[in-house]
Amino acid sequence: MTDMFKTIYELGIIPVVAIDDAEDAVPLAKALRDGGLPAAEITFRTAAAEEAIRRITAECPDVLVGAGTVLTKEQADRAVAAGAKFIVTPGFNPEMIAYIKSLGIPMMPGAATPGEMEQAMSMGLNNIKFFPAEANGGVNKLKALAGPYQSAKWMPTGGVNAKNLNDYLSFDRIIACGGTWIAKSADIAAKKWDVITENCRQAVMTMLGFKLGGIVFYGDEEQGKKNAKLICSLFGFAYSEDQCGIHAGDIAFSKAHGEAKGCIVIETLNADRAAAYLRRKGAEIDPDIWYDSKGHISCFALKDTVAGFEICIEKK
Ligand code: 3PG
Repeated sequence: MTDMFKTIYELGIIPVVAIDDAEDAVPLAKALRDGGLPAAEITFRTAAAEEAIRRITAECPDVLVGAGTVLTKEQADRAVAAGAKFIVTPGFNPEMIAYIKSLGIPMMPGAATPGEMEQAMSMGLNNIKFFPAEANGGVNKLKALAGPYQSAKWMPTGGVNAKNLNDYLSFDRIIACGGTWIAKSADIAAKKWDVITENCRQAVMTMLGFKLGGIVFYGDEEQGKKNAKLICSLFGFAYSEDQCGIHAGDIAFSKAHGEAKGCIVIETLNADRAAAYLRRKGAEIDPDIWYDSKGHISCFALKDTVAGFEICIEKK
């Protein structure tokens, strides 16, 4: 994965927007960033697209801005000149795709059929916008295509929303989901920045699915066994022992680790995206990160403790 597609994967959601007034571009970018999603695909469905990309590029360099609905070579040139970091097309027009590729900018061609996807992959374009996703069979179609097309990764857009977001994101061949539900044109025109920020926040929380996984207390092992047995006898929790410690349901006891009193375990649906999100929030991550066999993060800890407890984030 190039750095750009890694960034898009870590963001997980790309708000697709149509801006009528370029004056709204920077406040919109800030609203998205405040909600935890510093990214936007600005569509060339409005005359303000080019200027919107230019302003966000200049004033919000930490917001990843791309160009969408790029239908002509002239639009592609204007998008690049304005500072777009990636280009997305709705469909697979071979001449256009070849032209955009020749500009050297990361791109996601739109494709909805196996034939279009094969053409994209034969041009070395493995990150494909699946559009319109819901009208074309949704994630089940992508699961069927994933067998023959081992190198393809998709960004579904078109009918993706807060309700079906995780149906897509739980499939590991989805690079990110795109959609207009986060920053609707009407909300942008009405300057409802708080609404857009809240939509982002909810979408990010849905995507990450943070929840308390358990609490581990560090200390003497024999005392830990006694504590776990007492809790299990009182509350009927399941007792077990493994290499991580002695468990009484979601409470565990383990040998002392340095100075910390214990560890609060937070589960997430995607630890890669959780780590990227927490870094964006300013949290420092311990460099000792655990990965699974596919190179995805399975577990990591924050550098700082909270009330003397380590904070460990685990993929569910
Ligand atoms: C796009 O261009 O990606 C789609 O129009 C977004 O579709 P949506 O409005 O259903 O999110």
